[in-house]
Amino acid sequence: MTRRIILDCDPGHDDAMAILLARGTPEVELAAITTVAGNHTLDLTTLNARRVCTLAGITDVPLAAGCSAPLVRPLVTATEIHGTTGLQGHTWAEPTVHVISEHAVDLIIELVMAAPGEITLVPTGPLTNIAMALRREPRIADRVREVVLMGGSYTRGNVTPAAEFNVYVDPEAAAAVFTAGWPLTMIGLDVTHMANATAEVLARIAALGTGLAAAVVGMLGFYRDRQLHEFGTASPHVHDPCAVARVARPEFVSCKEARVEVELAGEFTRGMTVTDFRMRAAVTPNAMVGTSIDDGAFWDLFVAAIGRIPTRADA
Ligand code: RIB
Ligand code: CA
Repeated sequence: MTRRIILDCDPGHDDAMAILLARGTPEVELAAITTVAGNHTLDLTTLNARRVCTLAGITDVPLAAGCSAPLVRPLVTATEIHGTTGLQGHTWAEPTVHVISEHAVDLIIELVMAAPGEITLVPTGPLTNIAMALRREPRIADRVREVVLMGGSYTRGNVTPAAEFNVYVDPEAAAAVFTAGWPLTMIGLDVTHMANATAEVLARIAALGTGLAAAVVGMLGFYRDRQLHEFGTASPHVHDPCAVARVARPEFVSCKEARVEVELAGEFTRGMTVTDFRMRAAVTPNAMVGTSIDDGAFWDLFVAAIGRIPTRADA
C-alpha cells in the first residue's frame, strides 16, 4: 500500500538522501516537501531542496518553505558538518524547481485536513514547522496517520553529550510534537548510528553509473570527510533516510513503546529526549522508539531507490 508522506527537512546531506530514498521507493508517495531552518539557514535549506528536486526530476511535488527560526531559541546550524552551502560535494546547476507561494505550515495543514488518516509526517529537521502547524490547527493531531521523525536519542547526543541536533535546535517545538497525542515514532541516533555509508556502500552506488549516483557519491563523500573531521568516524551516519525507511519498510526498524519527555530547562541537558521504557500504570506511553535497523536491508533499499531515479543531465 502506498504511503503518502510530507517530508519536512533541512537539507543537509542526509536530508537530501531522504528525499531521494522517498522518490525512488515505489511504496512511498511524496505529497509535499517542506523546508525548515536547521542544518543551515532557511534560504539555503530551501535552495538545497530545490537543487535536489531538480537533480532528481521531482517536478510534480509541491515544495514549500517554512520557518526560519526556532519557536523560542536562536537558530543553531551545523555548517561544520554540512559545509558553508549546506550541500557541498556536487557542482549544482541553477535549480529549475521552485517553491510554491504557500507557507510550509499552511501546506501541511491543508494536505492533512484534506485527507484524514492518509498523511504521514516525516520530519528530518528541527520540528518548528510541525509545532507551528499544531498551534495553527490542533485538529491535525487527529487527522495525521502517523508522525515518523528523525530526531532524539535514548543513549547519547551529538550536538551535546545529551541532545541530538534536531531536538536541541528547537526543544520547545519537539516538546509540543511529543505531547500532541498523535501516533509518533522516534527514529533517533540509536538507530541512525547503525546506518553508515561505508566505502562498500559508496562503491555500490557508484556502480549504478548514472549522473545521479555520481552526485550522491560526491555528496556522501563530502559528508564522510566532515564527520571524520568532527567525530572521527570513518563512515558517516546517514540519519534522515532511516525515517523514510521506517515508513516504507517498517520491518527494517525495531521499535519499543516508551514515554519520551523533552528536557527544556537543563543547563547541560537542554534538548535531551528523556526516554522511559518502563511500562508503569502511572505513565502513558507517547512514542514508539527505534532501537535498531537492519542496515544491510536499508542500504539495499537505498541503492535500489537511487537506481530507479532517472538522471537529469543538466542538474
Ligand atoms: O542529528 C542528526 C540530524 O540533525 C539529521 O537530521 C541532520 O540532517 C541534522 O538535521
Ligand atoms: Ca536533517
